[in-house]
Amino acid sequence: MKILGICGSPKGKKSTTRFGLEKALAAAAAVGVETQMLAIRDYQFSGCCDCGACYKELKCAQADDFSERLLPLLSDPDIKGMIYASPVYFGGVTAQMKAFMDRCVPFRRNGYLFEDRISGVLTVGRSRHGGQELTAMDLIKNCLIHGMTVVPDRSPTSHFGGMLWSGHPDGIEKDEKGIETAENLGKRVAEITLKIHG
Ligand SMILES: Cc1cc2nc3c(=O)[nH]c(=O)nc-3n(C[C@H](O)[C@H](O)[C@H](O)COP(=O)(O)O)c2cc1C
Repeated sequence: MKILGICGSPKGKKSTTRFGLEKALAAAAAVGVETQMLAIRDYQFSGCCDCGACYKELKCAQADDFSERLLPLLSDPDIKGMIYASPVYFGGVTAQMKAFMDRCVPFRRNGYLFEDRISGVLTVGRSRHGGQELTAMDLIKNCLIHGMTVVPDRSPTSHFGGMLWSGHPDGIEKDEKGIETAENLGKRVAEITLKIHG
């Protein structure tokens, strides 16, 4: 049983979103599930062109990394939970995350293949109130449209998921409240995934 963390930042190891997602995945692993990080930046693909080819089969007409590498990776039956993580860009998800979410439409069109997965979301903004919750809603809408069950960060923080602030004067590592929401999110996704699929 695996929980897949999906990072929508264009940055590599220095990504603050990756930092938050790693906290969430570590907390999930501590509950007793396997975890895997998927960094969208490691794959070359663009958005969906609505050609309709995926209505017929779980296949995409665009010949790129999404078709060749991500379709098989995301089809892994061992994935029972997913955590979507994005930086806040103009109050919403990054272009990379949006392209990723749109390209996942073949999974919906071929029998709602994500439907039984448990999901949660995490966002990072440079401003304390820069649109983290709005960005979370972009990610939550995606999960709901796939039919997934979305869970919040676990009590006592329990709101919309992991919400972090990269503008902390001493760095995101000092955003203790934000890190707490990330860890509580990972815990909750793992706990519910185990309850449903364990
Ligand atoms: C094009 C662009 C738009 C941004 N818009 C916002 C915003 O609306 N609100 C906010 O709080 N931060 C905004 N930021 C800052 C990023 O959310 C912030 O630097 C975040 O920590 C980046 O995550 P990363 O390190 O994982 O890439 C923006 C950054 C860029 C490049």
